[in-house]
Amino acid sequence: MDGSVQARAATATALVEDSLRGLRGTPKVLSPKWLYDPRGSALFEQITTLPEYYLTRSEAAILSAHADRLAGLVPEGGALVEFGSGASVKTRTLLDAGGHFGAYVPIDISEDFLQQTAQGLRAAYPGMQIAPVVADFSEAVTLPEGLADAPKVGFFPGSTIGNLPPETATALLAHARAWPGAQGFILGVDLVKDRGELVAAYDDSQGVTAQFIGNILQRLNSEAGADFELTQFAYRARWNAAAARIDMELVSTCHQSVALDGETIDFAPGEPIHVSASRKYTRESLSALVAPAGWQLAELLFDEAERFAMAVLSPG
Ligand code: AVJ
Repeated sequence: MDGSVQARAATATALVEDSLRGLRGTPKVLSPKWLYDPRGSALFEQITTLPEYYLTRSEAAILSAHADRLAGLVPEGGALVEFGSGASVKTRTLLDAGGHFGAYVPIDISEDFLQQTAQGLRAAYPGMQIAPVVADFSEAVTLPEGLADAPKVGFFPGSTIGNLPPETATALLAHARAWPGAQGFILGVDLVKDRGELVAAYDDSQGVTAQFIGNILQRLNSEAGADFELTQFAYRARWNAAAARIDMELVSTCHQSVALDGETIDFAPGEPIHVSASRKYTRESLSALVAPAGWQLAELLFDEAERFAMAVLSPG
């Protein structure tokens, strides 16, 4: 097997094991980390341009309005370390304002994508060390050795932290706090707001989000030989006020059985599979999230409509 075939086989095994574990339990769950295969990533790209999905536009507006201020958090010669960098598109706003950065460290789970992105960044920012790290950021990340002593600022945009269970979010922030040279952290978070606006952002009129979430079943079919009947699962997005989060679920429309890796999973009519949660914050809940990780909420930067925020964290 060559490297990529081997990597794909390992991914398929992890997908099956993780999914079976989630589908054996009650309530049934699947992990949002499996949403981002090439088709899922393309669908998410499409989501970011939907009229209802304000998050990406609001965050981009904050980054451009405050690029100098945010880039200025990184000391001369220091490193910006980004979690879940993807194509590093929005980061370019900070890198453009960060002529004094010594290094940019994009962390992502997708190696091919990361190496390709790094090539493009090296050409665009010849004076900056581009040091990509392939890692699942929900686990502890080992940074490049050469940067051990450099001052570092973490960057986790996109409201992706809202996908993580609070313990995982706190663990990620605590790891970044423990880096030698940790100076600060820039965190993109979505804010608690009108329920209708939130639900619309996650249940768009064109049904793109429904396809994006449903893609996880498609993926289990094509990569793990499952036989989910996609027309028999309806997408639903609900605001869970008690937990301050949007829950994204696929609801079985009938009594049915699905085969996955030699096991049979039974579904009652109306039974949901929880696929993703997107947590929304207030100043107070955000302070409470970051404090146990050793950070202090130093500043919140908003877009004009105050839908979204970039939080600036300093060592607490
Ligand atoms: C990529 C995690 C920020 O929760 O808003 C969008 C994912 N899921 N629509 C979000 C998502 C459905 C998105 N994040």
